[in-house]
Amino acid sequence: MILARTVKEVKDQVREWKKQGLSVGLVPTMGYLHEGHQSLVKRAVAENDKVVVSVFVNPIQFAPNEDLETYPRDLEADCALCESTGAAMVFHPEPDEMYGDDFTTFVDMTGVTKELCGKSRPTHFRGVCTVVNKLFNIVTPDKAYFGQKDAQQLAVIRRMVRNLNMNLEVVGCPIIREADGLAKSSRNTYLSAEERKAALVLSKAIFLGEKMIKDGERDGDKVLAAMTQLIESEPLAKIDYVEMVKWDSIEIHHQIDCPVLIAIAVYIGKTRLIDNFIAE
Ligand code: PAF
Repeated sequence: MILARTVKEVKDQVREWKKQGLSVGLVPTMGYLHEGHQSLVKRAVAENDKVVVSVFVNPIQFAPNEDLETYPRDLEADCALCESTGAAMVFHPEPDEMYGDDFTTFVDMTGVTKELCGKSRPTHFRGVCTVVNKLFNIVTPDKAYFGQKDAQQLAVIRRMVRNLNMNLEVVGCPIIREADGLAKSSRNTYLSAEERKAALVLSKAIFLGEKMIKDGERDGDKVLAAMTQLIESEPLAKIDYVEMVKWDSIEIHHQIDCPVLIAIAVYIGKTRLIDNFIAE
């Protein structure tokens, strides 16, 4: 497996692969890879001749008060996971390689970035869209893989690809959970033992909402109210949002009469965790 640190190395290698008629899949990540990421790499390996995994903690998607400095990093373990899962290349650039001194171009979206995480993290998606756009231009993948755990991000990227006529397919992959239900996330490592237990309230709320809808509830506000009550019963939890939006326009919606995304963001201590499900 190749470990590339420069844009040029990636472009030269991808050009060679394409000359040989090989298809290329991209899995964009911020590293500290877990089974959730691994499921994306596996799917990409199954569907493409060559797979590139980018490992880059993208500074421009973090606000000044967020966890850029403390975000967990372990390149060696990431490379081992990528290699054993069948990736052909890990792309791990330094921030300077991606954002030189003259960097002044950003991809900004409206509408789909307004609610949910876009409301509490107003500069986040501008950073995500910009880096993902750059990665698409560098790797020129046939397919790119994103987890549904970041459901709004998946909707945002799909919209960007459609709006800007990009030549690739965006593949969304299911949420991977720990045995007890907690959605896998690199940020779970921030949790103390006590917080780890408290964090279960997120998946419990998700499963409750799913069950209510499966049992026939069509009033979204009732579902959100029950989920909110459950989360509020956990003393270490502080709700950022519990919302229902149309999937995939991400507009607030109240009736379950079309595909909807029910998404939550909850602080457990200082750690902000997200979870969601899609229902029809
Ligand atoms: O989902 C993530 O890890 C990041 O937002 C992404 C897509 C790799 C962009 O930095």
